[in-house]
Amino acid sequence: KTGLITFDPGYKNTGACESKITFLDGEEGKLLYRGYPIEQIAEKSSFVEVMYLLLKGELPTQAELDQFNKDIAEYNYVTEDLVKILDAFPSSAHPMGMLSSLTSALSAFNPKCVNVHSPDDMYKAAVTLLGKFPVLASWTQRKSKGLPINYSNDELGYVENFYHLLFKKPGKDLELNPVIIDALDKLLILHADHEQNCSTSTVRLVGSSHAGLFASISAGISALWGPLHGGANQAVLEMLDAIQADGGNVEKYLEKAKDKNDPFRLMGFGHRVYKNFDPRAKIIKVACDNVLEQLGINDPILDIAKKLERAALEDDYFKSRNLYPNVDFYSGIIYKALDIPTEMFTVMFAVGRLPGWIAQWMEMRETNQPIGRPRQLYTGSPARDYVEISKR
Ligand code: SDX
Repeated sequence: KTGLITFDPGYKNTGACESKITFLDGEEGKLLYRGYPIEQIAEKSSFVEVMYLLLKGELPTQAELDQFNKDIAEYNYVTEDLVKILDAFPSSAHPMGMLSSLTSALSAFNPKCVNVHSPDDMYKAAVTLLGKFPVLASWTQRKSKGLPINYSNDELGYVENFYHLLFKKPGKDLELNPVIIDALDKLLILHADHEQNCSTSTVRLVGSSHAGLFASISAGISALWGPLHGGANQAVLEMLDAIQADGGNVEKYLEKAKDKNDPFRLMGFGHRVYKNFDPRAKIIKVACDNVLEQLGINDPILDIAKKLERAALEDDYFKSRNLYPNVDFYSGIIYKALDIPTEMFTVMFAVGRLPGWIAQWMEMRETNQPIGRPRQLYTGSPARDYVEISKR
């Protein structure tokens, strides 16, 4: 006889694990990375420093940060054999599907299983993936655009190199505009970890069977792809484009979102944990204004987003359900200003979330978490005897 089973679809009220990495307070709209408030981290830190913080639990000294950068750069190339897999995709393939496949394929070229009881082995696995992932992510954009892939430039920092991999054109110089690089760095920081969200829980669940790190991250990428999760940033832009094409009629889409017979949801709104503003959304909204102003971009989509946000925040349906803008509501407008294609938005989310996924996978293995195996509420047929086909 099993013990008492709590029936909790979607794990809305289930604490699946203990963790020391990220803290969320949904009522207060607070987010801490290893105890540091996201507002301070976003303003003062860098994405590589945040990677170190999430993985090691402490902010690095300058010497530790320099070494970490060097260790990651050791792995910022990917075997040419993987290009053959990339070539096999049609250019119309969604970048998230390509990224998940390419990440899983990495295990074929890094067959040595991570010895989870060896800190050196775990560190090497982390920097290997942190080095190779932006290369694979950039390949998916290059494939979608029919452009040749780029190779890492060791003279550049992590985020500059990622931008270089995404946009460098053969025979042309690429300007590394600090406004763009800073915006990208800040967006990657804001996506770096977020407690036990759907994709991180997937990475932990897959890893709990002692499947490898690359296989577990590949599963997390697939979970993130869904429009209810990381895929929302692409869906927000598609929604805003539709509203713009429909004359900017935000009220019409607000009514659609409230209509229970209409599957349409206000993308970029609502959150399982935040019943207040998502602190990341507040930071991204300010960054959005700054980046567009500094780049001299006047995108009417931003005005539509603000008009939609104002209308939703004043609407009883949304207020009564504590539905506020989440991390995905404004991020796509910045990605668009950085010339990142809409179908690449969730890949950008994945590049940001990678250090969080790795840190959570490592914590789960280092603390010997048991294999995840939830139970169910059975409502099917009671026991019955088999019937021969001749008698059916
Ligand atoms: C991310 O978990 C994380 O931390 C995720 C994330 C991270 O960093 O990893 O923060 C990233 O995934 C952000 C969320 C991105 N997704 C979207 O923007 C998609 C739109 N949002 C919704 O689908 C929804 O709000 C979820 C999925 C985010 C949360 O869903 P829940 O917690 O399961 O809430 P629910 O679906 O039960 O909704 C509660 C009520 C329902 O109405 P009633 O049944 O009470 O009448 O609110 C309504 C829902 O219909 N509702 C919405 C809505 N979100 C919830 N109605 C219209 N539009 C919406 N966006």
